[in-house]
Amino acid sequence: MMNNKRKLIYCTGAIALCLAGLAWRPSPTDSDKGLKDYYKKYFPIGAAVTPRELHSEESKLIVKEFSSITPENAMKMGPIHPEENRFYWPDADSIVAFAQRNHLKVRGHTLCWHAQAPNWMFRDSAGNDVSKEVLLDRLRKHIHTVVSRYKGKIYAWDVVNEAIADDTTFLRKTKWSQITGQEFIEKAFVYAHEADPKAVLFYNDYNTEQPAKREKIYKLLKGLREKGIPVQGVGLQAHWSVTNPSREELENSIKLFSSLGLQVQFTELDISVYAGRQGGQLINGEQQQTKATFTPEMEQQQLEKYKMAFEVFRKYRKQITGVTFWNVSDRYTWLDGRGRKNFPLLFNTELKPKKAYWEVVKF
Ligand code: GLA
Repeated sequence: MMNNKRKLIYCTGAIALCLAGLAWRPSPTDSDKGLKDYYKKYFPIGAAVTPRELHSEESKLIVKEFSSITPENAMKMGPIHPEENRFYWPDADSIVAFAQRNHLKVRGHTLCWHAQAPNWMFRDSAGNDVSKEVLLDRLRKHIHTVVSRYKGKIYAWDVVNEAIADDTTFLRKTKWSQITGQEFIEKAFVYAHEADPKAVLFYNDYNTEQPAKREKIYKLLKGLREKGIPVQGVGLQAHWSVTNPSREELENSIKLFSSLGLQVQFTELDISVYAGRQGGQLINGEQQQTKATFTPEMEQQQLEKYKMAFEVFRKYRKQITGVTFWNVSDRYTWLDGRGRKNFPLLFNTELKPKKAYWEVVKF
């Protein structure tokens, strides 16, 4: 039998232990935790950033919430290589320096893409298309220069962006494919690997959950792997909406792409509040909308989509090596440029977490 004194010591000890337990147990409302902390054991969580944000209020939020950043535009071919013999480094350099100061990973985006590519790349001095040899040589110089500059500071590169067509054809019809066929894709990976053998190299695209496009991307990647082309990952952009994709479509994509032995990353995640097809594309009449209110219905539909997406991401944590949001908060998003405001992210225009945020960290 315990005497009273021992009982008292025992009870006090037990209460103290309980309180201590309560105090250290992580709670979803912990104010100093960010997305990156909740997902520490899963995968890095990133955001696409502009140099302006790194010198404004958003910078604190970026450092608190994210463990990785991607330059939204600063490393695209047009902005970083505006003329054949001139590179423009300040924006990209400042983003990489910010990441280094704050111990963030950097995903490079993007080495070869049909959009935001400079015209000089494809033309000779008379304004005609260059030959395949000239174009591939320019691509090699571009990739070697950019990748070498950030060697060891950028852990992964989106090497080729959006090379597969949305219609029934295979390759997207662009200057790249018109002049070189599929060779620009293969060569881009080879050049990037030469320049930084340690960087993880991704093929990046959208609509990757639509069965027809998924199959074509799979075919491309399978062919590249069989040829020994150094591609190690597939970036699923994840420009989704409150209606797309379904859980099943998403799981099927992860399973199919990872069956090739590729890492899977979600590289440009945002969930448009306007119902529509994937890829952030407009459906009939959508452009006419002027509605700029984040309604309770939108909030509810969006949080359900985010909840589903992160449940799936956690389930496939072995296959997934990163999730990156395309922009930081609803204050600024590329989706606004369509005649109406959108609200696709986890932070509102005041930079505060939305309800969807709490769904994403509640597990
Ligand atoms: C694509 C590109 C991104 C970006 C978005 C729109 O997804 O990969 O770099 O341009 O379109 O911002």
